[in-house]
Amino acid sequence: MKGKILNQLMANRQKYISGQDLSHKLGVSRTAVWKYINSLKQQGYQIEAVSNKGYRLLSSPDVLTPEEIYPLLTTSALGRTIIHKESLASTSLLAKEIAPQQHEGTVVVAEEQTKGRGRLGRQWYSPRSGGIWCSVILKPEIRPDKAYQITQVAAVAVVKAVGEITGLAAGIKWPNDIIVNGKKVCGILTEMNAEADIINHIVLSIGINVNHEGESVPSELRDKIGFLSSQCGHAISRKQLLAVTLSKLEDEYKAFIENGFKATVADCRKYSLLLGSEVQVTQMDRTYRGTAVDISGEGLLLIQTDGRTVEVISGDVSVRGIKGYL
Ligand code: BTN
Repeated sequence: MKGKILNQLMANRQKYISGQDLSHKLGVSRTAVWKYINSLKQQGYQIEAVSNKGYRLLSSPDVLTPEEIYPLLTTSALGRTIIHKESLASTSLLAKEIAPQQHEGTVVVAEEQTKGRGRLGRQWYSPRSGGIWCSVILKPEIRPDKAYQITQVAAVAVVKAVGEITGLAAGIKWPNDIIVNGKKVCGILTEMNAEADIINHIVLSIGINVNHEGESVPSELRDKIGFLSSQCGHAISRKQLLAVTLSKLEDEYKAFIENGFKATVADCRKYSLLLGSEVQVTQMDRTYRGTAVDISGEGLLLIQTDGRTVEVISGDVSVRGIKGYL
């Protein structure tokens, strides 16, 4: 009901709408309307109440609710269903649970995560209203052994979205880190549920660090992660960034499904921060050191090491700097 009241206020943005009209249209008492209006105010909506005229919406907070995101969406599938929560342990856990019943493109998004999950069992710092913590449910008809490429498809989409909304030149640290000025501003986690030759679903999770004071970041992360607002000197609209990210993701994903990874690889190379650098790639059972020379047509990182070229499909990459591999 709160959403319906908000939709009415949004549809009449510059006009007053009386409590009686709202109660009549939505079939609830005027007291209930008043309670919902108060609850919206607590969420950060500025609503003017004038006796004999009614209520008027003055401004909306930067929240990632369906009511705020749907009007900004230009996609045909991604984000057409948004499940928004104030707080979740992790959007990816909820998305994995509900994926079998959801259609492709459903997005789970939370204002904060209390147990945000990164790759390789790491934690993901997800402060309230500080970023975009979201998971997209995908059901691609591709071979399960190609699913890893979707991480890079998403990385290209995020770089383009960040560029469009902030003007910042982001780059990709293969395969899933988005970096601005040496700081990680986004991570991507792709999790698959599949049988031998069919994908049941993929949960593509994206965490973008958006608006947050540098001093609030835990000290052990301060050198590593960055927030877009600190990089560009002003707050960023999370809702605009989410809508544009979903739009870029849909474009990249459609091209990938229709034409395969060749649709993506040129941009992976263009935005790569690794090519030409000395890197160390750590996998479960081995470590490679060498020069990152290319990203293959299948999305593998090619490393020149000891006079030969090795192809790496996944791993934790560090780049050689003056203090060693970082
Ligand atoms: C990484 O770089 O390690 C991947 C980070 C992925 C973070 C996102 S935030 C939304 C979703 N929910 C989680 O718990 N993790 C992912």
